Amino acid sequence: MLLRRRVDRILNIEEMREQARWLPRAVFDAIDGAAGDEITLRANRTAFDRIWLRPRALADVSTRNLSTTVLGQAISMPLMLAPCGFARMANSQAELAVARAAGKAGTLFAVSGSASYLVDEIARSATGPLWYQLYLPPKQSDAASLIDRVEAAGYGVLCITIDTAVTPKRERDYRNKLTVPLKMSPRLLWAGMSNPVWAKDFVMGNVGTRGVAPGVVGGARTAYWSFAKTVQSMRPVTMRDLERLRSRWKGKVVVKGIMRGDECGAIVDAGVDGIVVSNHGGRNLDCVRPSIQILPEVVDAVGGRAEVYVDSGIRRGTDVIKALALGARACLVGRPYMFGLAVGGEAGVSRVLEIFRNEIEHSMALMGCATVNDIDASMVTAA
Ligand SMILES: Cc1cc2nc3c(=O)[nH]c(=O)nc-3n(C[C@H](O)[C@H](O)[C@H](O)COP(=O)(O)O)c2cc1C
Repeated sequence: MLLRRRVDRILNIEEMREQARWLPRAVFDAIDGAAGDEITLRANRTAFDRIWLRPRALADVSTRNLSTTVLGQAISMPLMLAPCGFARMANSQAELAVARAAGKAGTLFAVSGSASYLVDEIARSATGPLWYQLYLPPKQSDAASLIDRVEAAGYGVLCITIDTAVTPKRERDYRNKLTVPLKMSPRLLWAGMSNPVWAKDFVMGNVGTRGVAPGVVGGARTAYWSFAKTVQSMRPVTMRDLERLRSRWKGKVVVKGIMRGDECGAIVDAGVDGIVVSNHGGRNLDCVRPSIQILPEVVDAVGGRAEVYVDSGIRRGTDVIKALALGARACLVGRPYMFGLAVGGEAGVSRVLEIFRNEIEHSMALMGCATVNDIDASMVTAA
C-alpha cells in the first residue's frame, strides 16, 4: 500500500518515481518502461554511477550562479524538459501544466510532437522558452503546414527526433495490454474502477478532445486514445528530409537522438544548430550505449560548431555536473518530470525542477564551481 506524500515532502527523483505508482499499473509502466530487456534503461543509470567527481579545492563559492544559455536563450539552470508524449495519461493538464512549471522555474520545455494539446494552446500557457519536437508526417504537405503552424505559434526552435523510424516495442506495454488507441477492455475498466481519482481526471480531461484534425498530425489536439494516429503515421527522417526542413524552418534546428559521433559532421554541415545525444531513455532500440558514454565522442566530432545536449538517465544534480564536465551545454530529463506531473500536476513538475536546482547548486558548491562555466573536463574521471 503506497503512502502518498505531499509534493514538498518528496526528497528526490527516485521518491517521486515511487510516488507515481499511484497511477494504474499500465500507465506507470508506459512512462517508466523501456524497450526489449531494458538493458539500455539500466545502463543509462550505471554509466552515470561509474563516473567519479574531482572537486576543486579553495574556490570561492560563496555565491553560485546556475544560469546559462541554449542557442542564445537564457535559462536559469542547465536542465531542460525533454519532449514526452503520453502526458495526458499522467494528468489531464498535461503540457499546459508542464509549460507553466517550466516557465516559473525559468527553464525550457521541448513540446512533444505527440502532445495532447494544440501547439498554440501550449504556447499560450507558457511563460518560458519552448522548442517544438517534430515527428515527421508521411505527407510532405502535412509537414509543411505543421511547421507553419508551429512557427506562427511562436516556437523558436524545431527539434527533430530522428531515432524513431518505427513504433518501438516496449514489452511492459504488451504485457499490460496497453493499446494505442486505448480500447475499452475489461482490464481498462478494472483499472478505472480500482483508481477512480485517476479515472475521473483521465475521462474528464479527455472530454471534447476526441479525434485528430483531418490531415494534421503532431501538434493537433489529440485525445490519448488517438495518440497512435500521430505515432503510427510518422515516417523515418532521412538526410534529405533534414535538409528540406532546415531550409523551410526559419529559426534554429536541433536534432535529437544522435548515438554516434561519426555522423555529426554531416549533420552540422546541413545547418543544424544543436544536437541532443539521446537513446530516448532506452525506450526505442535496446542495447545501444548509454548516452553519457556517447557524449564525449559527439562533443569531439562537433568541435564547437553546434551546441551539444544530453538526456537519458539523469536523476541527480551530480549527473548534470558530470554531463557538463563531459562537454554538454545542458541536460534534458523526461521521466522525472512525467512522474512529477503524475504525482502533483503543475506543483509536481515544479517540485522536480526545484529538487534538480537544489542538487545542482549544492553539488556545484562542493565541486568548487561558482558558475556553470567553472565545470570542466578535469572534474570527472572513470577511475
Ligand atoms: C512517457 C515518455 C514519452 C516520450 N515521448 C517522446 C516524444 O514524443 N518525442 C521524443 O522525441 N522523445 C520522447 N520521449 C523521450 C524523451 O524525450 C527523452 O529522450 C527521455 O525521456 C530521456 O530519458 P529519461 O526519461 O531517462 O530522462 C519520451 C519519454 C517518455 C518517458
